[in-house]
Amino acid sequence: MKICNSIEEMRGACRALRHEGKRIGFVPTMGALHEGHRSLVRAAGDSCDAVAASIFVNPLQFGPKEDLGKYPRSFDRDCALLEEEGVEFLFAPTVEDMYPAGSATWVTVEGMSDKLDGRSRPGHFRGVTTVVAKLFHVVEPDAAFFGQKDAAQLAIIRRMVRDLNFPVEIVACPIVREADGLAMSSRNAYLDTAQRKQAIVLYRSLLRVKKLWEGGERRAEELIGVGKAEIAQEKSVRLDYFEIVDPENLDPVSNVRDGGLVAVAAFVGATRLIDNLVLKEAVALA
Ligand code: PAF
Repeated sequence: MKICNSIEEMRGACRALRHEGKRIGFVPTMGALHEGHRSLVRAAGDSCDAVAASIFVNPLQFGPKEDLGKYPRSFDRDCALLEEEGVEFLFAPTVEDMYPAGSATWVTVEGMSDKLDGRSRPGHFRGVTTVVAKLFHVVEPDAAFFGQKDAAQLAIIRRMVRDLNFPVEIVACPIVREADGLAMSSRNAYLDTAQRKQAIVLYRSLLRVKKLWEGGERRAEELIGVGKAEIAQEKSVRLDYFEIVDPENLDPVSNVRDGGLVAVAAFVGATRLIDNLVLKEAVALA
């Protein structure tokens, strides 16, 4: 795997691949890689001829009181994982390279960026869309792979790509969970043993809602009530939001149909975790 630290080097390397007629799959990350990231790289490898990845802890998507300074960093281990999975090019730029002094341009998906996580993390999605747009310009991928775990991020990136005509296919990959159901996240590393146990309540709350919906309940208010009640069982977990939304525009729904996105965010100690689930009708066998 070749590590490219500069924009020019990465752009040149990816262009050379494309000139060979190769379809490039891109996996953007902030490092601290886990099995969820591995699944993205594998999905990219399965449908593309070459895989490019990036590791960049993007300061623009962290609020002033958030965890930028202590965000887990494990560059050498991350490189080993990417190499093992056959990644050809890794882009690992510096902050100065990505945001030279005087940078003044933002990419914002109006109307969506202040929903779900955007409400509790003002400016977060504007930081994400700005960096992802820049990374797409550097790598110029044919397809880019994102985890369904960040469902709001995924919807917002899809909208940005549509609105700005990026010639890139956005591929969503399923959430990868620990054996007990906890969604994999780089931030799980912040949890102590007791918090790690408490954190499962997020997934449990989603499963409660799913069961009720599968039993025929369609009123969002009732479903959300049950999800919130489950979270409240875990006294030391503080709910941020529990919502059921349309996965395309992130608007809340009142009557929950097939495909509805149930999304939860909660603080376990100081660690903010998110999880979600898409409600699906069982497919009747012919
Ligand atoms: O999902 C992430 O890890 C980040 O938000 C992303 C897409 C790499 C942008 O910094």
